Amino acid sequence: MSCSDPRGISLGPRQIADGVYWVGVNDCLKDLFESLWPIPDGVSYNAYAVVGSEGAAIIDGVDEHLTYEYVEKIREVVGDLGRVKYIVINHLEPDHHASTPRLLELAENAVVLVSTVGARILESLYRVPRERIVEVKDGERVSLGDKTLRFVYTPWLHWPETMMTYLEEGGVLFSCDAFGSYGALVRGIFDDEVDLDYYLEEAKRYFSNIVFKYSKNVLEAVDKIEKLGLEIRILAPSHGPVYRKRISEIISLYRDLSLPKPCARATVVYGSMYGRTEEVVQTIERVLERSGVSVDLVDAARTHPSYTLSLVAESAAVVFVFPTYDASVFPPVREVINYLHVKQAGRGRLAAVVNTFSWGPSAKEAVDALSRAGFQILEPVVSTKSLPSPEDRRKIEELAERLSSELRKFGSCA
Ligand SMILES: Cc1cc2nc3c(=O)[nH]c(=O)nc-3n(C[C@H](O)[C@H](O)[C@H](O)COP(=O)(O)O)c2cc1C
Ligand SMILES: [Fe+2]
Ligand SMILES: [Fe+2]
Repeated sequence: MSCSDPRGISLGPRQIADGVYWVGVNDCLKDLFESLWPIPDGVSYNAYAVVGSEGAAIIDGVDEHLTYEYVEKIREVVGDLGRVKYIVINHLEPDHHASTPRLLELAENAVVLVSTVGARILESLYRVPRERIVEVKDGERVSLGDKTLRFVYTPWLHWPETMMTYLEEGGVLFSCDAFGSYGALVRGIFDDEVDLDYYLEEAKRYFSNIVFKYSKNVLEAVDKIEKLGLEIRILAPSHGPVYRKRISEIISLYRDLSLPKPCARATVVYGSMYGRTEEVVQTIERVLERSGVSVDLVDAARTHPSYTLSLVAESAAVVFVFPTYDASVFPPVREVINYLHVKQAGRGRLAAVVNTFSWGPSAKEAVDALSRAGFQILEPVVSTKSLPSPEDRRKIEELAERLSSELRKFGSCA
């Protein structure tokens, strides 16, 4: 599935509906999306051209280094760039609009269409002359002759200005980051052309990394679209596949990820330099599994937080097991806690804490940070010497037993 997949095809513009074309690009150069999240298989920036009888609109764009390829694809489907009337900005993040200042230079008659909040933020990111910025309101429509675009404000997916654009004639919803996924599009662009299982898995990781914090807004957006009764024949996000067959599946996935139903699953995030902490992890794993709790183990030093966040997003509880390191929580475990604070705070999930040390415990640092991140701390918090005393062993088992009885209340995971 990677960008270098020999079965990959070079993607020119693709028609996705009558007069609507995918003019996106694959980014196979970037190692980290947002300089944070590994993208070993690249990522696509999907942009679209809607060609009407009275001009064209370009929905979103691409990151700066891929501007040329994007512009050439637009040229291929629109012809003269002077026909471009609108460049729609669903979301200002540079993965979608670093290309826009250049496109505006080339498409001399075009103006950008942006939400009210977007219009306010725009100048902090791009130099666009005032007279070429047009604010569109929630629900407003613009006409391209035989095609009509309607704007639907869906704020905070994951910036304050985000909106979606709906093409009334084709039933195409351009949803930008919502319903997106990592992974370049190497075998095609539609859900039925690609290995969708791979993209759905990557959609989960993308969701947990980028959007999870804004789950409430995701649910509001999905509800709003449903209430508006927009018939979605094609769901066209800005990353990953375009959906034409399995639209309800990706929408349900987003709904489920936004409102995870707790079940008996725990993620154990641990670190261990010399093996003593790993023994504690094995004890906890044994107790939890014996009672029917599903357990995922994450060696924090060897797992990028991007993947850890994805596992944790689906867990009702997280167990942190770590040695003290230079009077602090073992740094890779501390890093996961920091990420959780930034990306997944305030979900009221359970956290259990076990610290191993030789002369000074560091459990309090973890407990304080986890409490600030909105976790409920399960007692007893255990601090044990490298070699646990019988009393410490008993406390570790008691903690694991208590955790499993809390988790079993939710019922087992599907
Ligand atoms: C580089 C290093 C720094 C450590 N710093 C501390 C410390 O500040 N306080 C402490 O009590 N123990 C400290 N220790 C001891 C470990 O926390 C303790 O032995 C722990 O149980 C090791 O777990 P492990 O065998 O899973 O690596 C340190 C150990 C190492 C290797
Ligand atoms: Fe974004
Ligand atoms: Fe994006």
